[in-house]
Amino acid sequence: MNSKYNIIGLGLESSCDETSASIVRNGKEILSNIIFSQINLHRDYSGVVPEIASRAHLEVINDLIDEALDKAGVKFSDLNYVAATNRPGLIGSLLIALQSAKAISYKLKIPLIAINHLEAHLFAPFLEGRDVFFPFIGLLVSGGNTILYNVKGIGELQIIGKTVDDAVGEAFDKVAKFLNLGYPGGPVIEDMAKGVRGKKNFLPKILTAKKNDFRFSYSGLKTAVVNYIREYPDAEKKEIVYNFQERALELLVRRVFAASRVYNIKKIVVAGGVAANGRLRDLLFENKGDEEIIIPSPELCTDNAAMVAGVGFQYFREDKVNDLSVDVSPRI
Ligand code: KG4
Repeated sequence: MNSKYNIIGLGLESSCDETSASIVRNGKEILSNIIFSQINLHRDYSGVVPEIASRAHLEVINDLIDEALDKAGVKFSDLNYVAATNRPGLIGSLLIALQSAKAISYKLKIPLIAINHLEAHLFAPFLEGRDVFFPFIGLLVSGGNTILYNVKGIGELQIIGKTVDDAVGEAFDKVAKFLNLGYPGGPVIEDMAKGVRGKKNFLPKILTAKKNDFRFSYSGLKTAVVNYIREYPDAEKKEIVYNFQERALELLVRRVFAASRVYNIKKIVVAGGVAANGRLRDLLFENKGDEEIIIPSPELCTDNAAMVAGVGFQYFREDKVNDLSVDVSPRI
């Protein structure tokens, strides 16, 4: 492929509660990135209801594809590949983007690329002016996953550590639910915690066993919050969420820098919904030495199809494409 290539990709995403369609040129230039968030449909339940999610994806996906093409000034016939998330996620939801992508691939006779959603998150920075580099330490922090990777290449994601119970975003959501703060919990808690400043934290540190232990755990911290509120029902909510957030984030920070030291990899990418948290960014930059911290802009931290089209390009250029028999999977 010479340097003047002009490869146009369509990305589709519907793994959880965002439906998205995006057009990306040459794997790095976002021409459009249309996102429909279902948050309002799930708010009353304080969490994503799978059946509601898949129906809502189905209702909007065709319009989103048209809108993404229109906004990018691109026609179906201009597309060189179509990429869709096929794992991990909610089965019924994943099917909507993947089946749409299959139909487009079949009709236009263009390659279909099935994407690991978590890999797509980790590649989001490459849509913001960075050339692709390897290796890097990747921390993926979202509502469903908390995973630390050694990313060695396209499709070469070595898991170094992950949560043994709740994901960090899930802990934000559950604490917010318990305190009746609304859904999703992350942004609400971050907002409430702003302006509170550090007295001694009354919540326990999340235990860390050995030097090379890269596991995460959030259910104990969540229980500590619940116990604290039961013991001190008049405690100020903003003090509680501040202390919760500090404890939740400090574990992430400890783990990424430890992984960077142990694996001797200086580039660190932090991605996924929780990476939108400003306090996490501050803590990472305050604690870093000669490591380089790379975090996508907040719009690219939460679920979107640009990151799917972006990583799809890397597979396309290596001719790693799928046939129509590829299926969805709830797991990685
Ligand atoms: O990656 P994402 O958009 O969706 C999936 O999990 O698939 O992440 C959503 C998660 C939710 O748990 C939400 O509470 C959390 O990311 N989140 C945040 C922030 N914004 C979103 N957590 C902490 N601080 C934030 N600013």
